[in-house]
Amino acid sequence: MTFEPAQELPVAVLLSGTGRTLANFLKEIEEKRLPVRIVAVGSDRERARGLQIAAEAKIPTRVFKKSDYTGRAQRDREIFRWLQERGARLLCLAGYLSLLDLSSRAELPVLNIHPALLPRFGGAGFYGDRVHSAVLAAGEKESGATVHLVDEYFDSGQIVARIKVPVLESDDLVSLRARVFEAECNLYPRVLRWIAEGKLRVSAGGAFGESGIWEPVTVEEGEGDS
Ligand code: GRF
Repeated sequence: MTFEPAQELPVAVLLSGTGRTLANFLKEIEEKRLPVRIVAVGSDRERARGLQIAAEAKIPTRVFKKSDYTGRAQRDREIFRWLQERGARLLCLAGYLSLLDLSSRAELPVLNIHPALLPRFGGAGFYGDRVHSAVLAAGEKESGATVHLVDEYFDSGQIVARIKVPVLESDDLVSLRARVFEAECNLYPRVLRWIAEGKLRVSAGGAFGESGIWEPVTVEEGEGDS
């Protein structure tokens, strides 16, 4: 997928919770640092705060409650149908807690951000504060965030980029969570910029750069775009 620099990349978002990541995208868009248009926001939870953020920004929203469908395949078929109808060319998971059935995604590439340095501290059960608690309990000296393509499992798709942050001896859940989230706010929009600018091509078949398969990039905090 390549976009002319003048175009805005039509992106859909799925979330289950606060919508902090969506709010960060919207701020970056508002401040003209992200050539992206959010075309749809879906959720598996009707009370997700992120839906209000989307509605306030006049973005179409829809809830896909598990109990309204016969199973995951039926629900996800409906999700992908709706996102494509809205013109999405990329789907970003932003705190979406259900595992997606990708068989009906057609060509839509799906990205996720995970609040740790994958492949460590990822997989089923590793979400939210559970991730940071595990990092602290393991006595890690660094943590961070990872943007990756989504496959049929939790947190195991092709890694696109990571950002590292230190874990301090004085850290607790609150301080580590905040430091990692700040780094996420840097990393996820940066990856979207690479896609919008054509430096990174993502598809259902993988992530590719100018010279072939995309190698994971580690970005430093405070580093400018390259
Ligand atoms: C982020 O920390 C992200 O890494 C993960 O979900 C979190 C955002 O979800 N995928 P929420 O807004 O806190 O529910």
